[in-house]
Amino acid sequence: ATTATAQIGVTGLAVMGSNLARNFARHGHTVAVHNRTAAKTKTLVEQHGHEGTFVPAETAEEFVAALQKPRRIIIMVKAGEATDAVIDEFAPLLDEGDVIIDGGNAHFADTRRREKDLRDKGIHFVGAGISGGEEGALNGPSIMPGGSAESYKSLGPLLESIAAKAADGTPCAVHVGPDGAGHFVKMVHNGIEYADMQLIAEAYDLLRTVGGFAPERIAEIFRTWNTGRLDSYLIEITAEVLAHKDAATGRPFVDIVADEAEQKGTGRWTVQTALDLGVPVSGIAEAVFARSVSGHKELREAANGLPGPSAEAAALSPAAAEEFAARVEEALYASKVVSYAQGWNMIAKASDEYGWNIDLGAMAAIWRGGCIIRAAFLDRIRAAFAADPQLPTLLADRQFAEEVGRAQDAWREVVATAVRRGVPTPGFAAALAYYDALRAERLPAALTQGQRDFFGAHTYRRTDREGSFHTPWSGDR
Ligand code: NAP
Ligand code: ATR
Repeated sequence: ATTATAQIGVTGLAVMGSNLARNFARHGHTVAVHNRTAAKTKTLVEQHGHEGTFVPAETAEEFVAALQKPRRIIIMVKAGEATDAVIDEFAPLLDEGDVIIDGGNAHFADTRRREKDLRDKGIHFVGAGISGGEEGALNGPSIMPGGSAESYKSLGPLLESIAAKAADGTPCAVHVGPDGAGHFVKMVHNGIEYADMQLIAEAYDLLRTVGGFAPERIAEIFRTWNTGRLDSYLIEITAEVLAHKDAATGRPFVDIVADEAEQKGTGRWTVQTALDLGVPVSGIAEAVFARSVSGHKELREAANGLPGPSAEAAALSPAAAEEFAARVEEALYASKVVSYAQGWNMIAKASDEYGWNIDLGAMAAIWRGGCIIRAAFLDRIRAAFAADPQLPTLLADRQFAEEVGRAQDAWREVVATAVRRGVPTPGFAAALAYYDALRAERLPAALTQGQRDFFGAHTYRRTDREGSFHTPWSGDR
């Protein structure tokens, strides 16, 4: 019989699971490893056994027997039915107080269901968002565990040991909140990632189409931006992608890639969930829709040849092009602040709705390293919530408000130019519309209410009196 020596077990040894297991082993933890197809377990230990102490297990029973109590099992399989199948296989072998961690990209509603079922059996179920892709899993991901606070007592130190570390040394892992809170914030992280990527794509398109810059030169512009307030992983890799030349043709890589963006679905979940919660996340929604538009080849072919702006645009002088690039940086930054503000509103709303009590500043803190949206910028968000934990919107933080205020003229100019030149910038434009809507003293929603009362007797509230009112409209005609 196996002796229980492992502090942690990982089942599901595809790229993510294998890399997480190696990360634990490299940090001195004894790791039990298991996979449905046992050959993969063998391969992992053959190739990486020297990196630390692995206990390979062929069967679920062997795997469970190898674990110290309370047992901690990380499931790293394809999200969906496979996760349920693996839970059903392991749960009967576990004891009260043991912990199952789902590190896959589960929908938070599935996590809530699974957590409840297992809680009834005395087993802690921790839905953990893990971000950073395969590289992060091996060298330090950002980890967002949900589940009970009690489970985090034994699990936290293990997760913090393998997590990415922020510049100040803080581990990028924290207990997010009960049941589905961890997978929820991971979902919002991915939505914000979509928005960031879309805004960067729009900036590139404008620099190329309006600024007249070649991809290599745009790569340099992004490199410069990466030394300022936009300093981030996504801006850094954008420069690399733009500078890359296709080996087969020698052409800019970006010109030989089919322009149809794909998606795995977490961005879509963010928008679907935001609609249910009633939180406007227009920046994320436009990003998801922009990918969707790009993928509709038949619509694009049918519309190909529709007229664009009739005014001929003169090429910008080199000096004017440089000035334009500086304005695009302002527009990109301001739009980014808006999409993060929207994402944080969504986390705050869900936290209230589900009673998660999420520390909003802590989410920014654990996204400073390891994950795809990692950026210097996130430390500013952490600081904004440290200054005011009740901050209703990031746009109301004094520093962000000042910066966006300074950027807004350039932002408007860039959106206007895009519209005049026929360059689609749904992200920039939606962010600006949101900013203007929030700051407006009066919105035309008053007219919408009037229409609703007219056709449906839906009633309205007045600006000058309390109560609910209905106007007998037929008398007007
Ligand atoms: P994956 O391709 O999503 O999943 C493959 C693994 O799932 C294999 O170990 C496979 O076992 C196992 N599996 C599938 N169906 C199963 C079933 N019915 N019963 C038992 N095991 C089953 O692998 P991945 O890319 O490493 O991702 C793992 C999880 O992490 C996913 O939920 C994914 O969404 C999430 N994630 C991925 C990334 C990324 O960048 N790839 C980043 C963060 C999170 P066999 O070997 O036996 O087929
Ligand atoms: P993270 O963003 O935290 O690194 P992720 O969301 O799983 O983790 O993966 C990063 C990117 O890899 C996502 O943007 C996703 O692509 P989409 O933009 O198409 O949604 C992609 N991704 C997610 N799950 C994946 C999987 N199982 N295999 C391959 N790619 C995946």
